[in-house]
Amino acid sequence: MRHSKKLLALIVTAGVVSGLNAASIKSGTVYTKNCALCHGARAEGNSKVPDAPALNRLSKEELVTKLSDIKGQGFDNAHERMEKNARIIELRGMKYDAHDMAEYIYSRFNKDK
Ligand code: HEC
Repeated sequence: MRHSKKLLALIVTAGVVSGLNAASIKSGTVYTKNCALCHGARAEGNSKVPDAPALNRLSKEELVTKLSDIKGQGFDNAHERMEKNARIIELRGMKYDAHDMAEYIYSRFNKDK
């Protein structure tokens, strides 16, 4: 009985961990295929698209807030152009979760960590 509880805990933990990995791999794919073009391969910005800001100095919280706003769940209109980009990207079947994407960008590219 004790043994099976431990096993269950292990399976649940493994499931959660692999779930997180799967989510960030997916955000990674979306980022590489869609976002890198304007924001840079490492979120450092792209001199050819000067309007698109670098994302590698934003905290995880800032990224979550901005990405939520961009996906139409926020309260201001600061990201009108990005909202349009996000709709186009989602129409291509590249849906992403704002939290997963924030985690991906922050953990891979942030320079202030
Ligand atoms: C066609 C170019 C383009 C693409 C593709 C693009 N962006 Fe943007 N992004 C912009 C521009 C321009 C802005 C600034 C204006 C705005 O926010 O509407 C911006 C703003 C942002 C901001 C807000 C930054 C800040 O400091 O306020 C975030 C976060 C962001 N983009 C994330 C993404 C993500 C994630 C993707 C991919 C799913 C993506 N962008 C794809 C051009 C692009």
